Amino acid sequence: MQAKQSNPNEQRSLVLIKPDAIQRGLAGEIISRLERRGLKIVAMKMLQMDKTLAQRHYAIHKDKAFFNELVNFITSSPIIALVFQGKDAVEIIRQTMGETDPAKALPGTIRGDFGLDIEHNLIHGSDSVENASKEINLFFSAEEIFDYHKDIDRWAG
Ligand code: RTP
Ligand code: MG
Repeated sequence: MQAKQSNPNEQRSLVLIKPDAIQRGLAGEIISRLERRGLKIVAMKMLQMDKTLAQRHYAIHKDKAFFNELVNFITSSPIIALVFQGKDAVEIIRQTMGETDPAKALPGTIRGDFGLDIEHNLIHGSDSVENASKEINLFFSAEEIFDYHKDIDRWAG
């Protein structure tokens, strides 16, 4: 049987379930929302980020006033890192997360439903395909990413 031609809109995005989400018992809820959107989990691990990894992951914010607090928070307790794959995954995840500041995030989004504070906003999702690729490489080796087939994929555009 011929393999399904890969969808040119298929993307990967790095998602981090941040320390606050795990402390509050919201990891399953958040992962489930992304899964139910139709995105496929292709990698997942629990880890506690060290300062070096946090500084590299958030390097773009190194000159911001909140940088040290951000690094302290993201390294404060374990996180779950995942790679989600699917059509337009980067944009779909950002939309499902909601605005950075939970006070501005719409109800129905993860941050709009569960967040209150900009520094503790539950989830990270890559903000572009280019950054997704860099971020995924920080957290996962090629062998840790599973590009498997799901029967349900045949229904996706
Ligand atoms: P993330 O990178 O974590 O997915 O969040 P984001 O794209 O929505 O927001 P970004 O601008 O990349 O900021 C990264 C994280 O820094 C914290 N932050 N604090 N105190 C502040 O004004 C402030 N602004 C941003 C947030 O935790 C944000 O998620
Ligand atoms: Mg960001």
